[in-house]
Amino acid sequence: MTTDSQTQPGAGLQLPTGFLFGAATAAYQVEGAVAAGGRGPSIWDTFSHAPGRVLGGDTGDVAIEHYDRYRDDVAVMADLGLQAYRFSIAWPRVQPTGRGALNQRGVDFYSRLIDELLEAGIEPWPTLYHWDLPQPLEDAGGWPVRDTAERFADYAGAIAAALGDRVKQWTTLNEPWCSAFLGYGSGVHAPGRQEPAAAVRAGHHLMLGHGLAAGLLRSGGHQVGVTINLYDVVPASEREVDLEAARRIDGLQNRFFLDPVLRGSYPADVMADLAAVTGFEHVRDGDLDVISTPLDLLGVNYYSRHVVAGAQTDGDDGHGGGVGSAASPWPGSEHVGFLKGELPVTAMGWEIHADGLRRVLERVAREYPAVPLYVTENGAAFADAPDADGLVRDPDRIAYLDGHLRACQAAIDAGVPLRGYFCWSLFDNFEWSWGYARRFGLVHVDYATQTRTPKSSAFWYSDLIRGRLAT
Ligand code: NOJ
Repeated sequence: MTTDSQTQPGAGLQLPTGFLFGAATAAYQVEGAVAAGGRGPSIWDTFSHAPGRVLGGDTGDVAIEHYDRYRDDVAVMADLGLQAYRFSIAWPRVQPTGRGALNQRGVDFYSRLIDELLEAGIEPWPTLYHWDLPQPLEDAGGWPVRDTAERFADYAGAIAAALGDRVKQWTTLNEPWCSAFLGYGSGVHAPGRQEPAAAVRAGHHLMLGHGLAAGLLRSGGHQVGVTINLYDVVPASEREVDLEAARRIDGLQNRFFLDPVLRGSYPADVMADLAAVTGFEHVRDGDLDVISTPLDLLGVNYYSRHVVAGAQTDGDDGHGGGVGSAASPWPGSEHVGFLKGELPVTAMGWEIHADGLRRVLERVAREYPAVPLYVTENGAAFADAPDADGLVRDPDRIAYLDGHLRACQAAIDAGVPLRGYFCWSLFDNFEWSWGYARRFGLVHVDYATQTRTPKSSAFWYSDLIRGRLAT
């Protein structure tokens, strides 16, 4: 990197023509209006209302009122020149019990949002599941139960039929690792269960739900992807125990999802690691064929790396806990230690490691069958606040985005079929077990007044998209 590009973020950054620039949110994190229009409760409503689960007792009841303010919010996107908006559809808003007929009032909300986006020239990128399982399905057993996968496919087919005339790209799941291992393993996410065997079954049924939905949608002529959160997993040293720890964590974090989806098989070493936790009797003949239904794109969410060692050190799971007591999110790998590396960190305590994004993208392109890639999330939390002059200056976020977009460019230069990038997040929002205490937005939100103020990173990103940065 030259001195110039260090002083001028974005200088020399040149992503290919047609590269898609967007930003992302998710329903429970922004919508609020949890009782409006016939919406039913999700596992996150239940979890966030349970004492001690979310920092400060925060909930998504109000969030940033995106449900009511979506028109103004789309205007903010248009001002910034976003080319695509990745949002999620709240399953309990469109199918309140997780079964049966769609709730038309819920569908209408997303229909209006999509129309508003299209009118502004912004591509809608809906995700069908960003963690808000209808509570009645959890009451019936949740993702550890096979029927939940069937219910998800029904919902996906119905909503695609309702909205698919205006949507080009569908994403089935967001970060199934979190749904399975934080939701049912460590319990720091909803539904807050600490059952390692159930977490492994949940992971399978999430992927099965993805595969069933992908098959349905593709046979209806839709383009489909799935978003997986990948880490650059780095051994603490070349010692055998550390290499072995890195293999295990890479297995559970990355390959447990990549292999079934892209290769149609579970990695043998991961199955062996999990043998002490659970068998794989829940995997039926044909499931892996369904799960490996060909994809039109793979979404990669990337934030940081894991530095791992063979013996327990500080117990940091690298994924930001909540306020409750957390078990390990790594079934069968409780003895593995996670080290705090020497790199600067964001407000989440996550190391800033832009080159890891290049490594992750190149690895997927090298080791798996070719599929177009999109970075569907990347971004950073910092303690942003307006200055006396009302501006929100966030040079650290600009540096983070600049570094990671350079990593994207390097990956493309190395031949990776990377087609676009979505910043997480468009707005400050409900950061799960951290509540509103962590701000990831390009746009600051004053939660008392709901005022939106684009941060300097938003203006920077906008200039980058519009090709206005010095080259
Ligand atoms: C992953 C999730 O998809 C998103 O919901 C979350 O807010 C960000 N990463 C930051 O933790």
